[in-house]
Amino acid sequence: MCGIAGYIGERNSPEVLFDMLERLEYRGYDSAGVMFIAGRKINIIKDKGKVSEVRSRVKPERYKSDIGVAHTRWATHGVPSKVNAHPHADCKNLFAVSHNGIIENYVSLRRELTLKGHKFQSDTDTEVISHLMEENYKGDLLTAFRESLDVLEGSYALAVLCVKEPNRILIARKESPLIVGLGKQENFIASDAPAFMPYTKEIIILNDFEYGFVEKDRVEVFDLVSGKKLKKQKSKITWDVKEAEKAGYHHFMLKEIMEEPDAVSNALKASGELKKIASRLKGKKRVYFVACGTAYHAGLTGKYLLENFGIQSEAVVASEFRYSTVDTVDKDCGIVLISQSGETADTIAAGKRAREKGAYVAGIVNVVGSTIARLVEDVAYTYSGPEIAVASTKAYIGQLVSLTQLALYLSLSSRKISVKEFERLQKELKGVSGKIKAVLSDGKIREIAEECAVKKTFFYIGRTLNYPTALEGALKLKEISYLHAEGYPAGELKHGPLAILEEDVVVIAIKTGRHLEDKMDSNIQETKARNARTLIVAEDGEIKVPRVDVLLTPLVNIVPLHLFAYYISVLKGLDPDKPRNLAKSVTVE
Ligand code: F6R
Repeated sequence: MCGIAGYIGERNSPEVLFDMLERLEYRGYDSAGVMFIAGRKINIIKDKGKVSEVRSRVKPERYKSDIGVAHTRWATHGVPSKVNAHPHADCKNLFAVSHNGIIENYVSLRRELTLKGHKFQSDTDTEVISHLMEENYKGDLLTAFRESLDVLEGSYALAVLCVKEPNRILIARKESPLIVGLGKQENFIASDAPAFMPYTKEIIILNDFEYGFVEKDRVEVFDLVSGKKLKKQKSKITWDVKEAEKAGYHHFMLKEIMEEPDAVSNALKASGELKKIASRLKGKKRVYFVACGTAYHAGLTGKYLLENFGIQSEAVVASEFRYSTVDTVDKDCGIVLISQSGETADTIAAGKRAREKGAYVAGIVNVVGSTIARLVEDVAYTYSGPEIAVASTKAYIGQLVSLTQLALYLSLSSRKISVKEFERLQKELKGVSGKIKAVLSDGKIREIAEECAVKKTFFYIGRTLNYPTALEGALKLKEISYLHAEGYPAGELKHGPLAILEEDVVVIAIKTGRHLEDKMDSNIQETKARNARTLIVAEDGEIKVPRVDVLLTPLVNIVPLHLFAYYISVLKGLDPDKPRNLAKSVTVE
């Protein structure tokens, strides 16, 4: 939800910042901008559109500057437009502010500042920060910054420039991610590490309620409450820069689908952590999986996995959990947060509330060092590598592998399965990587997508473990193709949706697993009888998947559905990496 960036050093900041924005574009892409200091003035180059479009219009190579801040936007307050694009300046063009998050009290702040004579240019919540800085600045930049932060309500990651002190960038964080990249005689600021990975892998992660400044050879961070200077740890990013690039694929999404076999083996590396989490969950009266979107679908699969072993559990979307389910939680409950980015606002809030209630909170997270990874008592990383396409694919596979392992460890320690059965399933799980490779090499799915790209309505149906697969298949299609797609428990079709089935509707029936096969067969007959184009995902279906243990079917069944959604999006001439209205990391509520 918006990417912010900052640079100070000997390179040309407008060019470095546009490079960084291109790597951050998955966080938002309705407008982009850079503000930099040159000739003792703040210079602004920003516009509506994708980063590459704005870059080619504003030509950053025409400018020279060693310090700047930048922003790629996912609109919350104010339509996408040049004037609403960040960064934002104050009345006198002394400050430039790049912000990710939402200032919840911006209406009252704006009213007060207007009464004091400030003139606002944009409809954004962010602009109040520039005017607050102008109002509070009496010659001491850090004091003005702290006074401004003190009155802000809501969430923020900030990078702020002042023309009067052109050797430093101010930074602050509250509930939106912010990382400093450390170089030699240069430093970087970004919402996420891929932004500066070609330049440095050494980082400092800011925590909530921390603020400070970055100079080209110095970083200082303070506690916002006490004002005390903090000793921040440096860490190293283990990803390779190539992992965050397209490597010859047309889209990140296709590259990331092709990386799904590796996502299996990578997630298996966290077995020690998963075993530990299982030991802490053992004996809890209830296990909750809490997440949003695709990660929630993984959590729902986790619930069916545990139920299969006779262990009670629930999967709840984080935005509901935080306001209701959490009231029923106590120290006898175990909560597993699931998140690719580790920065999803609702999941973070749900985890914090659950901890306040005394529950044990663990996490299955992809991004190392992210907020959720640091919030939980124990974390198991999925190690899927950077996921850049907005639609989550390989990270979902990583989450499913981790949840399968967690379910196996928990049922072994709770004596719900024998050691022999545990070992058999572990061995099968390791072999899933090869089975996914086989699905990926089947060209048939593209032909099926070509036939279906003209259709307008899609139903995905499945039962138990593959009901979440149906939800996830539908979510993937709707988010990148803008078609109407719904996931349904197959048994529910006759309770309503059957009414809209007709020739023009596609039904994708996820049948595999020799699990409730007769029941699925009846549902398939019901859809065929209404002349719907019915595609069956099965070992012998039109969409073929290899044979695996019933418990592992969600892992192979989703793979052709990822490809199906990708091809439909491309056939419709859309950009699957950057679906309209969406952003990769949802850091606002
Ligand atoms: C869909 C998708 C989203 C995310 C959701 C949670 O393809 O990517 O539904 O799954 O926003 O994000 P994370 O996993 O980062 O918490």
